[in-house]
Amino acid sequence: MAQDPARLVVLLSGRGSNFLALQQAAEEGWLGGQIAAVLSDRPDAAGLERAAAAGLDTLCVDRSRFPDRASFEHSLSVAISGFAPRLIVLAGFMRVLSADFVQAHEGQIINIHPSLLPRHRGLHTHQRVLDAGELEHGASVHLVTADLDAGPVISQVKIEVHPEDTADTLAERLLPLEHRLYPATLALLLRQPVTWSHDPIEIEGKPLVRPLRLDRDLGADGRLLRHGSG
Ligand code: GRF
Repeated sequence: MAQDPARLVVLLSGRGSNFLALQQAAEEGWLGGQIAAVLSDRPDAAGLERAAAAGLDTLCVDRSRFPDRASFEHSLSVAISGFAPRLIVLAGFMRVLSADFVQAHEGQIINIHPSLLPRHRGLHTHQRVLDAGELEHGASVHLVTADLDAGPVISQVKIEVHPEDTADTLAERLLPLEHRLYPATLALLLRQPVTWSHDPIEIEGKPLVRPLRLDRDLGADGRLLRHGSG
């Protein structure tokens, strides 16, 4: 009997361009899953409109209507669970999730972060790369744990920093690569059993000791070209 495609719930707070890249991969049939719903903490998130336009279920759990983080996260958690997702995909979701929330969805939450983690956790990563005089920059897809942007890194894409770069030009050059990295990584994760319970995580039964690099270790369609265990 054919299995139902894995269900994903996307959480976003902003424009949702990474969500659109995931939705495109789902529509093209190679993501290995379908987006069951798009949820936001902000009613004005442009990504919500884009998701509705794509015919997806959308829901806003408006943070400003809750007195504290615990009650907000409780409602968010209930809403997510209603869609019974295999993975919860953060795509520009600008809230720090509590340890309780992460524990309740352990091993299920994935994020994309615009830096070469473990460098530059948190905000303003493009400017911080410039301030540090670094010559390379990039994006990382990682498993979300209770510590901000500190969970095991699954995959990365790198760009060179040019002398004339600004935070805006770095963001502009990186974003299209994020749009390739995120669907490729999710396609990989959805295709095979991944053991999350260890750090490093295991992919195809082997520990991932360094992140998979897009186009070198990880094909744009999510194929594993080379395992990061060696
Ligand atoms: C991306 O740069 C992503 O890496 C970060 O937030 C941004 C979201 O952009 N987590 P978008 O809303 O997907 O266009």
